[in-house]
Amino acid sequence: MATAPREHFTSRTGFVLAAIGSAVGLGNMWRLSYLTAEKGGAAFALLYLVFTAAVGVPVMLAELTVGRGAQRSPIAALAHFGSAAWKPLGALFVLAGFVILAYYGVIAGWTLRYAGAAVAGGLPEDAGAYFGEVSEGWDAFAFHVVFMAATIFVVSGGVRRGIERAAEVMMPTLFVIVIGIAVYASTLDGASAGYRYYLNVDFANVLDWDVIVAAAGQAFFSLSLGMGAILTFASYLGRDHDLPNEALLIAGADFGVAFLAGFMVFPLIFALGLQGAVIGQDTGTVGALFIALPSAFAEMGTAGRFVGTAFFVALIVGALTSAISLLEVVVAAAMDGLGWERPRAAVVLGGLITALGGLAAWRVDVLDAMDTLANNVFLIGGGLGLAVFCGWVMRDASGEAHAGSGAVR
Ligand code: PFF
Repeated sequence: MATAPREHFTSRTGFVLAAIGSAVGLGNMWRLSYLTAEKGGAAFALLYLVFTAAVGVPVMLAELTVGRGAQRSPIAALAHFGSAAWKPLGALFVLAGFVILAYYGVIAGWTLRYAGAAVAGGLPEDAGAYFGEVSEGWDAFAFHVVFMAATIFVVSGGVRRGIERAAEVMMPTLFVIVIGIAVYASTLDGASAGYRYYLNVDFANVLDWDVIVAAAGQAFFSLSLGMGAILTFASYLGRDHDLPNEALLIAGADFGVAFLAGFMVFPLIFALGLQGAVIGQDTGTVGALFIALPSAFAEMGTAGRFVGTAFFVALIVGALTSAISLLEVVVAAAMDGLGWERPRAAVVLGGLITALGGLAAWRVDVLDAMDTLANNVFLIGGGLGLAVFCGWVMRDASGEAHAGSGAVR
């Protein structure tokens, strides 16, 4: 067991930004938009909102409560409040962290590549062919390795010097860029067709089982729930936080960015007439945004170069702060459970995850399968398991959640 005193976030703002950093990521800016396009527009987004409010916020509170109360990483925290019989649920969390970060790093690698292309000379007009070249194979793997190295570097720095500091710089940057692009997109001719598609609810799709599961999975994924990421961050909190407030704040910010992202993506795509590449497509949807948006930026000339760079930088920033939290789950488990030092845990386990990402870098359909499995099975199962734990096993969960209210700094 680790004997050093547990590190804590320095401030409430630092914690909240780190947790929002975990929640806001590729899920908000890439996954929600492509799922919305694939699964029938606003009806999907609405269902996702319902899951976020009705299931996401309570499960987030459960994670915050167990993590802060136990001051331990997931496996040890469940054993602390329950019994050793709950350890497998914690192990499932760690496994989910492994699988999700492995393919998440590959998508983040694509964004690095696109950001580089946007800066260097604009994005290619034939973005479909470009995506085909960069999304699979050694190229994809190389950029994934670079992204993972940055993630490992931050996590090795620890809670205060690594995670908290990174979030304090990166999250405000991301907010500014997303708002800026949404405002810019509103000035484009044809933007209104994008809004109409995005905001027009067609309830015919909402009762489809596949759509419902996808919306639930998206709510968990986007809020970073169901695999102990928020739990782990909360284990670095003191008792001067009112947890229900924090849950609302984090979920609100996450939904806000996801909603705003639609205001950047859909006007851009519709203004340039590229909706055919994204909407209602059953195949290759994972990559659709990586094809339609770069084509849009390429057609926009100089403005496109500028906006495209900003867009991909925002994606990278969001991806990095989320990847940090994914790796932290695995690292914290090794520190608490095996007594490993942080840098060793970050390098060894981060290295293994990078290697596993090779599978996703090899073929996009493997990546797609990992994404579906992780979200629709691991996260939903993990989140509901934790809800049962909090409701039936942990004593006085509500007392713990409210401990510290009024002493918010
Ligand atoms: N919430 C992140 C996103 O929306 O991109 C992804 C994520 C991070 C999922 C951490 C799960 C997690 F534990």
